[in-house]
Amino acid sequence: MKNLIIVDNPFVKRDVTVLREAGTQPADFRSALSRVSYALAIEIGKTLDLLEYEVTTPLEKTKGYKLKKQIVLVPVLRAGLSMVSSFLEMIPDAKVGHIGLQRDEKTLEPIDYYYKTPNNLDESVTILLDPMLATGGSAVASFNYLKKRDAGNCILACLIAAPEGVNKMYSEHPEVPIYTAALDRQLSNIGYILPGLGDAGDRTFGTF
Ligand code: PRP
Ligand code: URA
Repeated sequence: MKNLIIVDNPFVKRDVTVLREAGTQPADFRSALSRVSYALAIEIGKTLDLLEYEVTTPLEKTKGYKLKKQIVLVPVLRAGLSMVSSFLEMIPDAKVGHIGLQRDEKTLEPIDYYYKTPNNLDESVTILLDPMLATGGSAVASFNYLKKRDAGNCILACLIAAPEGVNKMYSEHPEVPIYTAALDRQLSNIGYILPGLGDAGDRTFGTF
């Protein structure tokens, strides 16, 4: 599938298994999610442009590099919060915006309750963080908002994607690359990803 990058390495496969396992408790769930987020950040980092500049070591001058563009991380509340610290470890000078969305349990439509993002998104690379791409409603609504704020260079980082969500992103925001740790089979009739991992927010924060 075009623009879908499945981050596939043994550490990620092991940790996705930990996340899927129904008996995994929130502390272990959060640390596995955080390790997978590192892997996603590293994979995304491969595509970022660099600026070359001269650096002076204690011995001589040599070529150095810095990221060309400001990176803006935008976690979707709540579950996306658990991906932020890993991305910040890799990109310490990233700015962090927030989008608050919750799916209506009946209609599965996202209900928005909070937006706060930095200025100058047009000059930045904006990475949306949300572990679950299910119907795709939340991701599409988030990119609709970010594009209204002039975000041009957008990336989605998720943990588990359903084909339905990937297809919705393709039809609404086809240019946005989707990085995921797994592409699952389908959605259930109540909008959960199968086989999935259940409710990512509840499992992260222990609200069950
Ligand atoms: C989850 C998840 C995504 C959304 C994905 O959030 O974190 O934001 O569902 O579903 P979609 O692709 O069908 O829109 P949820 O609404 O459960 O909120 P929470 O993170 O506060 O638990
Ligand atoms: N949101 C979740 O947290 N899990 C799913 O399976 C679908 C949406």
